[in-house]
Amino acid sequence: MNFQNYINGKWVEGRSKFQTINPANEELLAEIAQAETSDVAAAVDAATEAFKSWRLMPAPLRGELLFKIGDILKQKKEELARLLTQDMGKVIAEARGDVQEAIDMAYYMGGEGRRLLGYTAPVEMPNKFGMAVRDPAGVVGLITPWNFPIAVPSWKIFPALIAGNTIIWKPSPETPAISAAFVKVFEEAGLPAGVFNLLLAPGVDVAKALVNHPGVRVLSFTGSTTTGRAIAESAAKLNKKLSLEMGGKNAIIVMDDANVELVTDATLWAAFGTSGQRCTAASRLIVQRGIASKVKESLVERTKTLKLGNGLDEAVEIGPVINKAAIERIDKYVQIGQKEGARILVGGFIASTSSDIIRLSDSKSAAGFFYSPTLFEAIEVNNRSQYGLSTSIFTQDVNRAFTAMRDIFSGLVYINHGTTGAEIQFPFGGVRGTGNGHREAGQAALEVFTEWKSIYVDYSGKLQRAQIDNRED
Ligand code: UN1
Repeated sequence: MNFQNYINGKWVEGRSKFQTINPANEELLAEIAQAETSDVAAAVDAATEAFKSWRLMPAPLRGELLFKIGDILKQKKEELARLLTQDMGKVIAEARGDVQEAIDMAYYMGGEGRRLLGYTAPVEMPNKFGMAVRDPAGVVGLITPWNFPIAVPSWKIFPALIAGNTIIWKPSPETPAISAAFVKVFEEAGLPAGVFNLLLAPGVDVAKALVNHPGVRVLSFTGSTTTGRAIAESAAKLNKKLSLEMGGKNAIIVMDDANVELVTDATLWAAFGTSGQRCTAASRLIVQRGIASKVKESLVERTKTLKLGNGLDEAVEIGPVINKAAIERIDKYVQIGQKEGARILVGGFIASTSSDIIRLSDSKSAAGFFYSPTLFEAIEVNNRSQYGLSTSIFTQDVNRAFTAMRDIFSGLVYINHGTTGAEIQFPFGGVRGTGNGHREAGQAALEVFTEWKSIYVDYSGKLQRAQIDNRED
């Protein structure tokens, strides 16, 4: 397979190519045309030109295009899900869910074409009218990660489009094949040239050029806190609007009245779903003493039975992690944990699909980037995380539940459910190190991609001075 960059409605080759491999077997999946920093300028020019007419297309008509995109995504759901699994590694059922979030988002924001609500309010003078409307921000730059190659970009792309913005999208170089296949759907639906541009490239140069291009008015980034902070510094110099969605160290809190079986199911899913690579993944379990040993026993037993393998196999529960560097990083953290005194209850090794245990130092090598689901028993739990994305609590006591809803400081709170599973119609994002006050998805996404414009219409035919200009007291 081969994929190119998409600029001004054309698929363009680059001077060089890079590769994407399937993390389940390390086989070459596709060759990708590599974008250069000069392509950023070309894409911004195209998007700037396209903005002139896209912003004037009535929003209900933009909405109809989004519905069409949703329809095509629905038809191609299986095809896209399979490519997504091959490009990124997540199990096929989750890949279908990833595509489904895009379908939901396309229809949700398509409907927004007949809303995009502003408001009117009374004004201070007779024969005068006031209203606040949403204007598109202009050309927007989107930088997205590989863990949800379709869902997360959709939370940005669809609200940006419905509001009348034009886009330059720089997805992660780990998942270029599924990104290009996704853009083809927009092309097939008939999105005008230049409205949606795609740049594929490894490294940071292209992303940096996008961040620093004065023609890009809004940046929306999902990724690490360190990169997010660096983007914020550059964006501030150019007065850009910036939405950041960064890491999490999400905790599940288990009260002693919780249902152990439910806690076990939810924890396995929240911790090991997507091979633990969701930003909402649970990495800490905080259990009240009275129930701790029961929860531990049940979790250890169930974790041992999880089936690792190629995500295209429907029976597989855990796919590979994204790449070799990830395996090495995870292994390093597991070793640090052990050195700091935490005892491994299950896992803690690099695995192969044939369930052999293979250490990095072994000469024997297995294809695919697999790491066993791992549980630690922590001596001390630090509950003051620098992040604030998702927290969950298990209890059957309504008073405890409501107290938790009030007192947990994170962007997402779950009661009797793990830390993952956010739905597209609600704001997504977090506090402290996780975000900078913006949210993706839901109505909140429109705040990122629109500028408020306040309009005053004076139909009195004479000069009416406002507020302090005409008051005598
Ligand atoms: C992410 O990990 O970046 O709530 C997104 C969830 C998914 C999306 C996670 N709907 O886990």
